[in-house]
Amino acid sequence: MTVEKSDEMRLATQDDVVLARQAVRTAAVQIGLSLIDQTKIVTAASELARNAVVHGGGGTARIEIVRDGAKAGLRLTFEDKGPGIADVERAMKDGYTSGGGLGLGLGGAKRLSSEFRIESRPGEGTLVAITRWKG
Ligand SMILES: Nc1ncnc2c1ncn2[C@@H]1O[C@H](COP(=O)(O)OP(=O)(O)OP(=O)(O)O)[C@@H](O)[C@H]1O
Ligand SMILES: [Mg+2]
Repeated sequence: MTVEKSDEMRLATQDDVVLARQAVRTAAVQIGLSLIDQTKIVTAASELARNAVVHGGGGTARIEIVRDGAKAGLRLTFEDKGPGIADVERAMKDGYTSGGGLGLGLGGAKRLSSEFRIESRPGEGTLVAITRWKG
């Protein structure tokens, strides 16, 4: 897999979440994702960016246009150095929230992506990487 374009954005506030959403939409249009797939990846990005801000105390979003042979895709990596997640399996379950959320963000983001990877260590932080391939 090769990376054709890579941008990193800071995620500190709700406004940054909006900017990240817009940047993901632009990249999705650029690689020619269908309107429905644009919406899927933008929605997933929005949830993960919001988690980085709300639960992770802020972090970064990396937006990459990737290629695997003839296939183009969008890879998004959200990283923070917050408290981490003690039980990732539980956090992934729909309806689990440690705060006042709906607990649908992580599970939803996974369902809306072609690939999903989460790494988290208590006290060190959280990394979530998703990819949406075209077609
Ligand atoms: N980046 C993160 N850092 C620390 N904890 C996290 C992070 N992302 C998720 N979590 C933990 O996983 C739980 C589930 O996350 P999820 O996004 O599914 O639900 P939520 O954020 O609580 O609610 P919402 O439905 O509004 O997103 C969170 O309540 C939180 O405890
Ligand atoms: Mg959430």
